Amino acid sequence: MKLNAVTEALKYVNDGDVIGLGSGTTVALFMEELSKSGKKVTCVPTSLDTLFRASKLRIPITTLNHVRVLEKTFDGADQVDERLRLIKGGGGALTREKVVAYSSKELVIMVDKTKCVKKLGLGFPVPLEFIFEALPLIQKRVDELFGATVVLRMGQGKLPPLISDNGLVLGDVHFKDGLEDPNYAEEELNKIPGVLENGLFTKHPNVTVLVGEEKGCKTLKRP
Ligand code: A5P
Repeated sequence: MKLNAVTEALKYVNDGDVIGLGSGTTVALFMEELSKSGKKVTCVPTSLDTLFRASKLRIPITTLNHVRVLEKTFDGADQVDERLRLIKGGGGALTREKVVAYSSKELVIMVDKTKCVKKLGLGFPVPLEFIFEALPLIQKRVDELFGATVVLRMGQGKLPPLISDNGLVLGDVHFKDGLEDPNYAEEELNKIPGVLENGLFTKHPNVTVLVGEEKGCKTLKRP
């Protein structure tokens, strides 16, 4: 199913494009297939993982400082709802992913159909990136605002906490009954002092979601 989404996404890439590249296993597969296709692109990576994969596959790398605006970014997601709002950051790369996505005219998301949900936050937490000292304050605010809990992400289940590509820590916000209003949650989480970014993507104006199924791929566009 993932491969079907990736194969469809390749049709959105033209020789000579400069593209944003997200992070995660789906993006890794997309990069492999892109490299096999022989299309020559330059990429803006959103994580060290994607940067190293690009160098290994000899995909040239650039930065937003050079290109400023991208036509398209290709990324995966952890959950997608019917309004094409997303939860991302399961792999920890949410902040750079959001910066690159919002610097792109079109965000092309590749998922398998298991990621499509009625309600965001049910069965998957919202990732957060923040400074370690803010953890107690964040836990208190998130409880007051949503009755939700924040769990610090640990490296392989042990101390010390996992450190993000930006040198901060990560946490996961667990909403017992999912999110009633993801747009509001995205805004409120980012207002808590010490929070750098959260994994809700509700505000991109041009999202295309390619949903890989057992046979073929469905294309969803936000109206
Ligand atoms: C990386 O931090 C994430 O935002 C990924 O894009 C997302 O978790 C999807 O990952 P997979 O493609 O590995 O499922």
